[in-house]
Amino acid sequence: EKAGFDHFMLKEIYEQPKAYRDTMMGRISADGRSVELKEIGMTPEQIRGIRNVHIVACGTAYHAGMVGKSLIESLARIPVEIDVASEYRYRSPIITPETLVIVVSQSGETADTLAALREAKRCGARVLAITNVVGSSVSREANDVIITQAGPEIAVASTKAYTSQLIAFMLYGLFLADTLGTRDKDWIADVLVAMQKLPEQVESILERAQVLKQVAESLAKHDNLFFIGRGIDFAVAQEGSLKLKEISYIHSEAYPAGELKHGTLALIEEGIPVIALITQEDLYEKTLSNIKEVKARGAHVLGLVNEGTEVEVGKSIDELFAIPRTLPLLSPALSVVPLQLLAYYASLARGNDVDKPRNLAKSVTVE
Ligand code: M6R
Repeated sequence: EKAGFDHFMLKEIYEQPKAYRDTMMGRISADGRSVELKEIGMTPEQIRGIRNVHIVACGTAYHAGMVGKSLIESLARIPVEIDVASEYRYRSPIITPETLVIVVSQSGETADTLAALREAKRCGARVLAITNVVGSSVSREANDVIITQAGPEIAVASTKAYTSQLIAFMLYGLFLADTLGTRDKDWIADVLVAMQKLPEQVESILERAQVLKQVAESLAKHDNLFFIGRGIDFAVAQEGSLKLKEISYIHSEAYPAGELKHGTLALIEEGIPVIALITQEDLYEKTLSNIKEVKARGAHVLGLVNEGTEVEVGKSIDELFAIPRTLPLLSPALSVVPLQLLAYYASLARGNDVDKPRNLAKSVTVE
C-alpha cells in the first residue's frame, strides 16, 4: 500500500499535488471569481461581527496556523492571535462571543487541541475546525468544519496534511476577504488562478528531488543547523526545522533572520549549515544582508529562492534551490516541499525509521 514508494512519508509528499486539487475541488465558483464554502454556516452578518481570531493547534498544524495568521490578517484585516494548544488554556485567553477560534488538527483527536476547542465554546466563541478526518472529535464538536482532502496520512511526520491546511487557510482567507469587501473581486480571481497552478508547480519541484537528496546527504553529517527567514518564510522555516528534527534527529533551530544578531549569531561557526528562505521580494534585501552575516562567520548557506532571482552563488550563498514563481502569499505551499524532502533524505541517510520516529506517536491523545 506504499504504492511503490519506500516509505509512507515519501508517498505522502508525492501525493501533495492531488491533495491540493482535492482540497480546492468544489470550493471555487464556476466563473473562478470566488470561494464557495458551503460548509460554513456563518451568515455574512455574523462574519462581519468577528472582532478577532484565535488560531490554536499543535506541532505541524500550529505551523500551518502561523501561515494562516498572515493570510487572514493580510486578506481580511482581522487581528489574529495564535497559540500552541497546550499553552492556550492556561494563559486565560480573552475569548468573547465575538472571537472566532480556529482549531487546526490533521487527526481531529489531539487532546490539547480538543480541550482548547471546549474552552473556547464554554466562553461563547464560535469554533471553526480545519481537520482531515470526517467524524473526528474535533469535527463533531466544532460549529463549522473545513475538511482538508489530503486522504489518510500514515507517516508520523505530517506533510500533505500541512500543505492541505495551507490551502484551506488560503480559501478561507479569500472567503473572508470577499464577504468583508477587504479585497476586490478581480484581485481574488487572480489569486484563485495562481492557486490552481500550485499542484503542477509542486510536481516540478518533485522532479528535482535528486538534487535535494544530495544536499540532504551532506546535511546528515552535521549535528546542528539553522533555518532562517522573514515573515511568512519564517513560518515555513519553523516547519522545515520540526520536520528535520523529528525524523533525522539532527538538532535545528528556525530563526527570524533579523533576530540572529540578538544572540544566536554566536552559535554560527565554520561549516555550520544554514538554510535560508528568501521568497518574499519585499524582504529580499534585508534577508540577504542577514545571510551575509552568517556567511562571514563561515556558515555554509543553502538558499531557497524564487526562480529567476539573481543571486551570485559562491559569494553570499553556497547552493541555491529555486522554487517556481507564485504570488508571495502562496509561496509556503511550494517552499515547504524541498524542506520535506531534505528531512526525508537526511533521515534516510542516517538509517532512521522514517515513518515511525523514536518517541513519537501519530496522534497525541494525552495532554
Ligand atoms: O493530528 P494533529 O494535526 O492535531 O497533530 C498535531 C501534531 O501532533 C502533529 O502535527 C505533529 O507535530 C507531527 N508529527 C509533525 O510532523
